[in-house]
Amino acid sequence: MDRRNFISATASIFAAQAFAAQWKAPEKNVVKGGFDEVASDLDGALPWKPYSEKKVRVGIAGEGVCSFGSAFGYQNHPNADVIACTDLNPERCKLLQKRTGAKKTYSSCEDMIKHAADDKLDMVYIATDAPSHARLSIMALEHGLHVVCAVPAFLGKEQLELVPKIMDAVKRSGKLYQMNETTAFRQSCYEMRKLYEAGAMGEIVYAEGEYFHCCDLKNGLSVGSYNGWRDGIPPMYYPTHSTGFYTCVTGKRFIETTCIATPSLIKSYTNGNRYNNPFGSEFAFMKMETGGSTRMLVSYDVPCVNGERGRVWGQKGGYDDAAMTFLGDTSQLKSIDFKRHALPKGMPPGGHGGSHGYLTEDFLKAILDPNHHHVVNERIALDTTICGVYSHMSAMRGGETLKIPAVS
Ligand SMILES: NC(=O)c1ccc[n+]([C@@H]2O[C@H](COP(=O)([O-])OP(=O)(O)OC[C@H]3O[C@@H](n4cnc5c(N)ncnc54)[C@H](O)[C@@H]3O)[C@@H](O)[C@H]2O)c1
Repeated sequence: MDRRNFISATASIFAAQAFAAQWKAPEKNVVKGGFDEVASDLDGALPWKPYSEKKVRVGIAGEGVCSFGSAFGYQNHPNADVIACTDLNPERCKLLQKRTGAKKTYSSCEDMIKHAADDKLDMVYIATDAPSHARLSIMALEHGLHVVCAVPAFLGKEQLELVPKIMDAVKRSGKLYQMNETTAFRQSCYEMRKLYEAGAMGEIVYAEGEYFHCCDLKNGLSVGSYNGWRDGIPPMYYPTHSTGFYTCVTGKRFIETTCIATPSLIKSYTNGNRYNNPFGSEFAFMKMETGGSTRMLVSYDVPCVNGERGRVWGQKGGYDDAAMTFLGDTSQLKSIDFKRHALPKGMPPGGHGGSHGYLTEDFLKAILDPNHHHVVNERIALDTTICGVYSHMSAMRGGETLKIPAVS
């Protein structure tokens, strides 16, 4: 072995030892990764300003493993009244009622939507399992309700036909639709968007997004789910925490993807699954509609790596969320309002980087104030999701480059 090879081999051994020393088997059944609650760092310098006396009448569906029905603070917002709630599981339904103070319960979301007129509901928030999102969203829009839906907007190749139907249902109903992409209101992504919109970044040249969810080496992603929809899920069918670092910053879309993946060693991928998916991690290289390139990762089978992170580089400046810093011409920053304002009194920012409360506030304000346009509308929701579905298709074809269709 020559000297250079020896040094490099020795460095690898030390790196492996350091890794082994840090590595601890993840505890089973512990909710981790992107699911954890992260405290928000509020900038109280910009107080919340009331914009309406009205209250939006809300119905909430789904209090599953992540307790998402109650986690977005509708019960705490001064402009919302939680009228009804539902979960197929009666105990979870009761819990959701207790947590939100909903006046009545229904045995299913479908039933709640059918009775929306009797209850004078204005909107539903759908926090059910991912495979049901698109179908329930369309049904609610067709019943004249505004819709907020947890991510992803639709699930997988088999539901691609529902994409134009969601767009169509929004147009025909004249109601608002939002996908609750938590990345959009992380402090970092919020700042990136405000800086981009103010022109401080120029056009984006390169962007990166990463959603790594710590796994159990034996069982993979050990987070439960209704009817097991998470078991063996193609990572890029759930791309939004990554891809949001471009779409929710610029409002623009990806036009092409090349996705590389290696078959996983974990049994939920090797033993066969409902998705016929062998991949526990998928790494996509996508072209932006404005010409730049991106690297978007979703990983469920790399032990010990956790988090939802991203960064963008523009022609005039960039932003790295590890440093929470804008790198570029900082002289103009004083004139840009790029910090998150406060939420209404009593409204917690909630989990995922303090994004939950802001998503709720953004949507309620859009319903009540015609001059306010919410960030993650139907087009951005579908663009943020569809690129992942095409990325998984690319990975299944050995990394073939595929065009990503426009959703509108
Ligand atoms: N950062 C994020 O944005 C983030 C994080 C976690 C979960 N999520 C999303 O939130 C949603 C909920 O996640 P979860 O882990 O709690 O899901 P889950 O699969 O554990 O639970 C879904 C719940 O919905 C209920 N349900 C299903 N169909 C229903 C129907 N027709 N009517 C009434 N209730 C119904 C089920 O009984 C179950 O309690 C998922 O779509 C997930 O993708 C997003």
